[in-house]
Amino acid sequence: MSENGHMESMIVTRDLRKEYVMGTETVHALAGVDIEILRNEYVSIMGPSGSGKSTLMNMIGCLDSPTSGEYVLNGQAVQDLSDDNLARIRNREIGFVFQTFNLLPRATALHNVELPLIYAGVSSRDRQQKAAQALEIVQLADRMDHKPNELSGGQRQRVAIARALVNDPSILLADEPTGNLDSSTSEEIMDVFDTLHENGQTIIMVTHEYDIAARSQRVITLVDGKVEAQMSVDYYLARGLQQPTAAPAAADPSASPEPEPEPAPETSAEAEPAPAPSLEADAAPAPTLEPAPAPHPTAAPLDPVPPEAAPPAPGTRRPISNPWAPPPTPPADRGR
Ligand SMILES: Nc1ncnc2c1ncn2[C@@H]1O[C@H](COP(=O)(O)OP(=O)(O)OP(=O)(O)O)[C@@H](O)[C@H]1O
Ligand SMILES: [Mg+2]
Repeated sequence: MSENGHMESMIVTRDLRKEYVMGTETVHALAGVDIEILRNEYVSIMGPSGSGKSTLMNMIGCLDSPTSGEYVLNGQAVQDLSDDNLARIRNREIGFVFQTFNLLPRATALHNVELPLIYAGVSSRDRQQKAAQALEIVQLADRMDHKPNELSGGQRQRVAIARALVNDPSILLADEPTGNLDSSTSEEIMDVFDTLHENGQTIIMVTHEYDIAARSQRVITLVDGKVEAQMSVDYYLARGLQQPTAAPAAADPSASPEPEPEPAPETSAEAEPAPAPSLEADAAPAPTLEPAPAPHPTAAPLDPVPPEAAPPAPGTRRPISNPWAPPPTPPADRGR
């Protein structure tokens, strides 16, 4: 629960920090993050590579603990918990979906989905029943006996979503869930998320893609381990930070000629399948994407955040121009 009395706060962080000491250098992966996420919110986290998005997701998902700061998850102060309690909370409250699916290759879809229930000590019969139900939710009832290599990419991700949901978690965390999928399969996965959200699921999703973020309600952007801006998705769209990729080509002759304005996905990760060609956006930013004369994200402030937008975190008052401008050369490391 939050200090300002929002009973429905699902996540509150205060000055959350994560530092990695690398020899003589300290990496401030999170440099004081204050966020609040309400029950049944659907939030996107965006930001350049290395800005701390996965680190923040790992903290929120109790996969790792912060160096300092407070984190209250569903009313519980997570930073005070023992490792055992942390593991229990993680199992019960969190469903995690990864870019690379992270399924057991030799296990069937059903068995992959059963796994969290095994850790939770659920009996075999209940496990199978719940896993089958979760697979039905993602419309894979007819693929339960398939192993991951007998499934399409989108189906694999749906198995991963079923696995994330099988414990009925308070929060679904998804770190670039469509990063390895072509755009039509990405839409399918986003449709699944929409349905889950309509049914009350709280969702936090990291994405590099504007049209994926546009499916959420609110966008939080990270830069250098800090919250740079928070805005409602309506405001985000209204600012013209993205061009709707779904728009028919001939709709508006003044529109950008670039069909894919979103940042190029990272293609450097080893051992990951190459993204489909349709996701290989041109790395050069479309000139029309720059919404304001401000040439740099940290340049002069733009308009203030309108009232309907989420309040900015302390010290992050101004909306950004385009901090996600496509990186010319994606760095080689993906953090994890
Ligand atoms: N285990 C680790 N040890 C040392 N440094 C790390 C570790 N994990 C992450 N970092 C560093 O912390 C910073 C944030 O990494 P993180 O993976 O959170 O970035 P990200 O925003 O998810 O980037 P991407 O968009 O590429 O996935 C990076 O500079 C990264 O190199
Ligand atoms: Mg990441």
